Amino acid sequence: MRMIPAWLEGWLLRLIGVPAAQSRLVDVCRTALEGRAPVSVLDLGCGSGVYAGLLPFERYTGVDRSRQCIESARSHCRHSGASFQCADVSAFLADDKGPYDLVLMVGLLHHLDDSTGRAVLEASARLLTQGGVAVSVDPVLLPRQRPMARLMALLDRGNHVRTREGYGALVPDALRIHEQRVSGSELRVPQDLLLMVMRRAW
Ligand SMILES: C[S@@+](CC[C@H](N)C(=O)[O-])C[C@H]1O[C@@H](n2cnc3c(N)ncnc32)[C@H](O)[C@@H]1O
Repeated sequence: MRMIPAWLEGWLLRLIGVPAAQSRLVDVCRTALEGRAPVSVLDLGCGSGVYAGLLPFERYTGVDRSRQCIESARSHCRHSGASFQCADVSAFLADDKGPYDLVLMVGLLHHLDDSTGRAVLEASARLLTQGGVAVSVDPVLLPRQRPMARLMALLDRGNHVRTREGYGALVPDALRIHEQRVSGSELRVPQDLLLMVMRRAW
């Protein structure tokens, strides 16, 4: 059940700059893919599937364990190449064969414990096409952090908000970190986010 009406949620998201941050992330993905549009996209922890409306693709698969999110995604997305599955990401990855040009994990890794996070990245590496990229964004704990940003990270619903090194330690040998960057100005709220762009190591 919705706690607030859709129009108010949309207005609040615009107020804090979420749509602008989402389109910047789409640009990051395009740049990482060296300008070419991804043919196939896997969005792990897709929520209500907002990136299915922002990214170009021929095939998009969104996975989320929240039934409410998946129902919302299905009702909003009209693209014939998009599909949404209500599943735990680990269960989904155990069966899926890919391949994907882009594996997106926006706000996912900080919900996963270390062994699950590592296994999810390992499986993502296996599913990437040659030249494909995996991109993650998560709240991060920093050594010297604005008190409000630290509080935001600690109050996050994800139980595994990590340091930059902690997220880096999840990356398996099968992937190499192409870019790892902290930004404290993505949103108009005090929040520090870590972006990781990963490529197949071989
Ligand atoms: C912070 S939200 C981000 C949603 C979306 N990626 C976005 O940017 O709008 C994190 C999402 O990950 C999903 N999630 C967390 N752990 C998961 C798991 N183990 N399997 C599947 N989905 C998961 C949650 O249900 C939630 O929708």
